[in-house]
Amino acid sequence: MHKRQFLKHVSLLGTASLMGGIHLAATSPKKIPAAAFALPVLPYGYEALEPSIDRLTMQVHHGKHHQAYTDKLNAAITGTKYEGMSIENILKTIPASESEIRNHGGGYYNHALFWKWLTPDGGGQPSGKLAETIAAQFGSFGAFRERFSEAASKQFGSGWA
Ligand SMILES: [Fe+2]
Repeated sequence: MHKRQFLKHVSLLGTASLMGGIHLAATSPKKIPAAAFALPVLPYGYEALEPSIDRLTMQVHHGKHHQAYTDKLNAAITGTKYEGMSIENILKTIPASESEIRNHGGGYYNHALFWKWLTPDGGGQPSGKLAETIAAQFGSFGAFRERFSEAASKQFGSGWA
């Protein structure tokens, strides 16, 4: 093929693609759903939570665990009625019998919440209504922390209490 012919073909391909006549993504061997879930970008660096949570722990939970939940959730919802739904709606409506989507969706959502709730500027005791409620329910923040840590250490999995 001569250079002029090649440029003509490329130009036609681009025009056809713009007109919607060719869908290159549809022929891709690794089709990604239109509304696929993505691994959220951390709002801080992997080392930002040290010394409470070290860099390696963050890398494993974000780059491996959360990425695996994301990939498996996307694969599980492809071609189902859940494709295109928000993660909140999936988890609100999915029956326990659909355990693959439910488990991967739960792992995806739990990790996403975790990244939002953690902050390098956190720590200290709560204030306002939360502090009042904790005091009313547990007697003091220290007593709450003790009970919470005890419950988390007995919980199977990632320490959710
Ligand atoms: Fe994790």
